[in-house]
Amino acid sequence: MAITSARTAALYDRVRRFIPPVEWPIFADDIDAILDLKRQRNAVVLAHNYQTPEIFHCVADIVGDSLALARKAMTVEADVIVLAGVHFMAETAKLLNPGKTVLIPDTAAGCSLAESITPEDVRRLRQCHPGVPVVTYVNTSAAVKAESDICCTSGNAKAVVEALGVPRVIMLPDEYLARNIAAETDVEIITWQGHCEVHELFAPADIRQLREDHPGVTVLAHPECPPDVVAEADFAGSTAAMSDYVARQKPSRVVLMTECSMSDNVAVDHPEIEFIRPCNLCPHMKRVTLANIRAALEQNRHEVTIAPEVAGRARLAVERMLAI
Ligand code: 13P
Ligand code: SF4
Repeated sequence: MAITSARTAALYDRVRRFIPPVEWPIFADDIDAILDLKRQRNAVVLAHNYQTPEIFHCVADIVGDSLALARKAMTVEADVIVLAGVHFMAETAKLLNPGKTVLIPDTAAGCSLAESITPEDVRRLRQCHPGVPVVTYVNTSAAVKAESDICCTSGNAKAVVEALGVPRVIMLPDEYLARNIAAETDVEIITWQGHCEVHELFAPADIRQLREDHPGVTVLAHPECPPDVVAEADFAGSTAAMSDYVARQKPSRVVLMTECSMSDNVAVDHPEIEFIRPCNLCPHMKRVTLANIRAALEQNRHEVTIAPEVAGRARLAVERMLAI
């Protein structure tokens, strides 16, 4: 068992504030194996900002928000993509780079938003609102994307809605993201009642308490939070936008109203900043571990496939988004 190779020792230096020494030998063994397997299989690991620091900082080749992962997946040249994130992200990577083997370490890594809507729901919405374009958040199945005109992420939702040049759009499935965007644009937005089970838990009272307990704290919120939470925050943006805000503005104290691992990952690069952590865990993101990334590469599991009749239409909706 390679517990303390020079390369894992160097990686531990980076994450030691977030991983207790007693846990590291187990992680180091998996990290060493994954680094070797990536070379042997000509594979890359794409990790979302909500992955734990030992994944995000120690085995990932590409990290970012949903938009960045989609853009970068498109240009991956390696043979294999391991998506350390949730299922819709792996599907998006497969849509955009169909010639590659795309692996998801745990097929049960879902998303409450993706589960909130079916293709039939989208068809019914179209019947109720004839001629109104459907803008679909990437946090959906490929089958739902296939029923849509265009996709969006939290990083480009306003730009996508306004680029359509129409007075009304249907935006699904995240009601709060849609209402937060509606507050920033003149385009009328018809919403769906999906919610992120992580972000819906934050309340404005949490922010008031945080400001009282930690004077001067800068509050950043993800736009999947309810609108009354976003209204009380100092800034709202995608996970990448929050990370960029911290790097640019360097607040002395900051709180990220989002998934727990995000603060740890950003804090690695900003030891001078105090991060307050009233976070909520995403049980789906947390299904991905070093152990199942290693197993994915060793056993070529679990390969993501999309039925061709769905893939063509879903790809079009994602590509239209990326063209904006
Ligand atoms: P972004 O990284 O695109 O902001 O999305 C957040 C999220 O909830 C992904 O599951
Ligand atoms: Fe889905 Fe929310 Fe988890 Fe993101 S954080 S994967 S939106 S449940």
